Amino acid sequence: MNLEQLQEVTEKVNLYILGMLPPFRYKHSVRVAVLARDLCARFAVEPAKGYLAGIAHDMCKTAQDEWLLNMAEKDGAKLTGIEKSKPALLHGRAAALLLAEDFQVTDPSVLNAVRYHTFGSPDIDDLGKIIYVADKIEPKRPDIDPVLRERMLSSDLDTMTIMVMEMTISYLAAKGKKVAKNTKLMLQHLQEGKNK
Ligand SMILES: [Fe+2]
Ligand SMILES: [Fe+2]
Repeated sequence: MNLEQLQEVTEKVNLYILGMLPPFRYKHSVRVAVLARDLCARFAVEPAKGYLAGIAHDMCKTAQDEWLLNMAEKDGAKLTGIEKSKPALLHGRAAALLLAEDFQVTDPSVLNAVRYHTFGSPDIDDLGKIIYVADKIEPKRPDIDPVLRERMLSSDLDTMTIMVMEMTISYLAAKGKKVAKNTKLMLQHLQEGKNK
C-alpha cells in the first residue's frame, strides 16, 4: 500500500472508531497510534503503518461475543482455551479480518500487528512489536512506574518489547490470570535472539 492509500484508510478507520468506541477507548487508540508512529520513525518502519495499526487495533473492542467468534473462525487459526473462555480477547483477530474485508487493507504487516496485539506471537515483526508495546505503555496507561516507562522507551526495540512483556506477565500473575502460549513463545524467541 502506498502512502496515499494508507492515509485514506486511516481516515476511514478513524471515523469508524469515532462512531463505535466510547470516548476513553477512542482516546487510547489515538495515543497508541501517536506513540506507534514515533517508535516506527525511530526503528525504521513506515510511520503511517504504525499510525494505522494503532488507530485500528481496538476497533472491534465493543463487538458482541458471537460476532467475534464468527469473525475469528475465518482466519484459519484455532481458538485457544483463553479465547474460548473470553471471546472479547478475539477483538484483535476480528479487527485484522475487518480491515482486510471492509477497509481493503492489504499490508500483511499492518494486519498482523493488529491481529497479534493482545497476545503477541513468535512470528511477530517489528511493526507488531511496536503496536504491542505502544498498546501497553501509551502515556495514560495507569499503574506504570514512570521511571520504568522511560527506561523501556529509551531501549532498543527488542529490549523494550521484552521489558513490556515481562511487566505484562507479572501483572497477569499478580491477578492470577493465565499467560497465553503465544505470549510465552514470543518472549522466549526474543530472549533467544538477544543471547545469540
Ligand atoms: Fe486491544
Ligand atoms: Fe488497546
